[in-house]
Amino acid sequence: MARKLIAGNWKMNGLSRGAATLAEALAKRAQDAGPLGWDPLICPPTTLLGSVGQALKGSAIALGGQDCHPARSGAHTGDISAEMLADAGCRYAIVGHSERRADHGEDDTLVRSKAEAATAAGLVPIVCVGETAAQREAGKALRVIEAQLTGSLPRPGRGTVDGAGLVVAYEPVWAIGTGQTATPADVAQVHGHIRGLLAQLLGGAGAAKAVRILYGGSVKPGNAAELLAVADVDGALVGGASLDAEDFWAIGARAG
Ligand code: PGA
Repeated sequence: MARKLIAGNWKMNGLSRGAATLAEALAKRAQDAGPLGWDPLICPPTTLLGSVGQALKGSAIALGGQDCHPARSGAHTGDISAEMLADAGCRYAIVGHSERRADHGEDDTLVRSKAEAATAAGLVPIVCVGETAAQREAGKALRVIEAQLTGSLPRPGRGTVDGAGLVVAYEPVWAIGTGQTATPADVAQVHGHIRGLLAQLLGGAGAAKAVRILYGGSVKPGNAAELLAVADVDGALVGGASLDAEDFWAIGARAG
């Protein structure tokens, strides 16, 4: 069974002083814990990649970006390329988070080009998919997720085909930051569906099995054990609770 990946997405939170305290607290926990049975990842805002990366250096905690531009470099004011993230010490890049899809109108085609750029830069893309409340109520959740996944993954030849270089995050939009979580039965259904789709898209069950599929949406220390025990849940993408070292580490402890 794959080691679970617990990814902390700080979103647009954190100023230098508080972030240093948080990153140092996490690094200390990693050091005190010794060898871990799970993989921790922190994705701070871009302004903090340098300082957080410095605090986490030499620890078991990996660094990731929250987004990247499809191009390697060029005239794209305000954007950050995947190569820049790699240069800053990142190993992962979140792409297609529902907040970016909503705030910036990102569609599957753009998300796919970002995932391909991440792969080309040697990063592991964390490709996010998830339905809205209205889509779930209309019975369309699986269809929406299927379309997002099919449209957002790197095309064959443009991305990793062995599965180990890819992470998918299922985040029901209605569960993000709301305190509501999908039921374990719903999570099992969606994750199983994603695994099946990955087998088709990546050309086999072996490749699909190597992809880590994360659940995200109001994961907390109190519900992490139940969610992480669901079949085909290979980790969690954690927003709010990742801003507290104790909570983030408690979630990780449930993962391994
Ligand atoms: P949340 O966010 O844990 O605060 O719900 C999850 C996410 O959006 O990645």
